[in-house]
Amino acid sequence: MAKDFEARARDRLEPAVYDYYAGGADDQVSVNDNPRAWQRVRLRPRVLRDVTAVDTTVTMLGATAAAPIGIAPTAAHELAHPDAECATARGAAAAGVPYVVSTLSTRSMEAIAEAASDAARWFQLYVRGDLDRARALVQRAEACGHQALVVTVDVPTLGLRRHEAMALNDRVGLPHMARPDDTGGDTYARHVALTFDDLHEIISWTSLPVLAKGVLRADDAAACVRAGVAGIIVSNHGGRQLDTTIDPPTALEEVAAAVGDATEIYVDGGIRRGTDVVKALALGAVGVFVGRPVIWGLVVDGADGVCAVLDELRTELERAMRLCGAATVADVTHDLVVGP
Ligand SMILES: Cc1cc2nc3c(=O)[nH]c(=O)nc-3n(C[C@H](O)[C@H](O)[C@H](O)COP(=O)(O)O)c2cc1C
Repeated sequence: MAKDFEARARDRLEPAVYDYYAGGADDQVSVNDNPRAWQRVRLRPRVLRDVTAVDTTVTMLGATAAAPIGIAPTAAHELAHPDAECATARGAAAAGVPYVVSTLSTRSMEAIAEAASDAARWFQLYVRGDLDRARALVQRAEACGHQALVVTVDVPTLGLRRHEAMALNDRVGLPHMARPDDTGGDTYARHVALTFDDLHEIISWTSLPVLAKGVLRADDAAACVRAGVAGIIVSNHGGRQLDTTIDPPTALEEVAAAVGDATEIYVDGGIRRGTDVVKALALGAVGVFVGRPVIWGLVVDGADGVCAVLDELRTELERAMRLCGAATVADVTHDLVVGP
């Protein structure tokens, strides 16, 4: 069905918009390999366990979610659906999982909060222009009820996305990119190449738990922990930044082994099946995030489509856990997998 959503979304979108959402950087190696990397990890199922009742609920950053699944931050949902990020947030609320709102959203974080006050929202921060501008966004995010801040750390500059024929800010308004003295939505193109000191400073601005998104190595993960993060999202940005990186399950295993006891580890990139979620948990993740499949659901059926994609993944997870002999997420341990 996930494939079905993508095919239906592709039919509805103009090719440049489909390519914007679907594409990766350079030769598209990582974007294509991410789902395959999860397939390469193999399961070692247990049998003869009591799996009459399977419970997929989980605690992420102290809050309960219906499943160890969340919506990864992705830009410009207005290109997918007229209700844009407001619909995405309603879909997340209906599915009972957190939604990471992107700095590059096409609705303001306050409007999204109002549209779905019952959604668990985390705010993703891009630092563009300068740190002061970012600080103002963090204060707004805290004021309008976000439960966490996700600092994306893998964009010192944009990856080379040859397929991207489209300049986002020519097509849609990006309210968080507007100059404070200008309501016209001017975009600040210059990415700031953050350092660990900057990360430490950002953490000092807020009482929200802060996660670093885009980490692929144990030494970086350890330095993020020293800087004070509450969590790490292992990610190669869905293959849109540096192409030909190590794959998400390999990086996850390395990071979880190094700092899994010290902080909460999450992963994204190519998660498409319930079995992928089982593998991520077994390799040390507290939860996973999904990007593109949620966009396809949004294109096809707005908030209901978003909820349908998430529900399908949760249902697949439940089935996979039952077939693996795991009744709770705590039962999903490393011995269930071989590889990557
Ligand atoms: C269209 C698109 C836009 C994205 N925008 C952002 C963004 O604004 N901020 C961010 O941190 N990551 C962004 N990402 C990366 C996602 O958060 C996530 O790492 C990736 O999509 C996960 O891979 P998946 O799409 O295979 O699930 C974007 C990804 C896509 C596909």
